[in-house]
Amino acid sequence: MKIIGISGSPTKGGVLESAMTKVLESTGHEWELIRLSGKNIKFCRGCIACAATNRCVFRDDMDEIIEKIMEADAVVLGGITRNNGVNALMKNFMERLSPLFHRKMLLKDKPVALVSTGFVTTQEAYKDLSEFVNGFRMNEVGNIVTGGNASCYVCGFGETCPYSAHRAVNGDVKITNDTFYRFEKDSNCEEEATQLGQTLAQAI
Ligand SMILES: Cc1cc2nc3c(=O)[nH]c(=O)nc-3n(C[C@H](O)[C@H](O)[C@H](O)COP(=O)(O)O)c2cc1C
Repeated sequence: MKIIGISGSPTKGGVLESAMTKVLESTGHEWELIRLSGKNIKFCRGCIACAATNRCVFRDDMDEIIEKIMEADAVVLGGITRNNGVNALMKNFMERLSPLFHRKMLLKDKPVALVSTGFVTTQEAYKDLSEFVNGFRMNEVGNIVTGGNASCYVCGFGETCPYSAHRAVNGDVKITNDTFYRFEKDSNCEEEATQLGQTLAQAI
């Protein structure tokens, strides 16, 4: 058995990756985490040639990723919230999975667990991921939503900027180590991630 995780976060070792790793480890099976960040994945141009062939006209890193997803027994899909929706890396990846949709619904019934993060608008990435996998008739076995971190924590202006998301949420308090959300410190979420991995393994 092999589980493939696809991470849409550009942050190596960030919240999303930590949560996804916990889910993947908890399956008890062989697993691999693929980071979309840094991959050569062109934007779908909407030519719909893939309707006839179930293959995209572009040759890029999606070829290998699609091969691994097709071979995998289950998938863990992870996206972060940006501008009130799932982030662009993940959105582009989802659009490029279109060749697997037409006529054959090639991902139908494949078990998938969803992991998403957010600082304020925490459900937005989850909603986008869920609508996507359900449209592809995948078997969504469950999900977790972790906390997230505002970019205002690290931009250098978070305590003074009038538009700071940090100030909007936390008020006039100093940004310290404790301000940051860390998945490893969130024991409830860690437990949910462990259970999600186990549920995914049972669904195979
Ligand atoms: C450009 C940008 C836009 C963001 N927009 C939102 C948002 O609309 N809502 C929200 O809750 N978090 C937002 N965030 C916070 C991210 O969701 C947060 O950084 C992420 O959860 C952390 O995951 P990571 O450590 O894996 O990067 C935004 C972050 C960036 C950099």
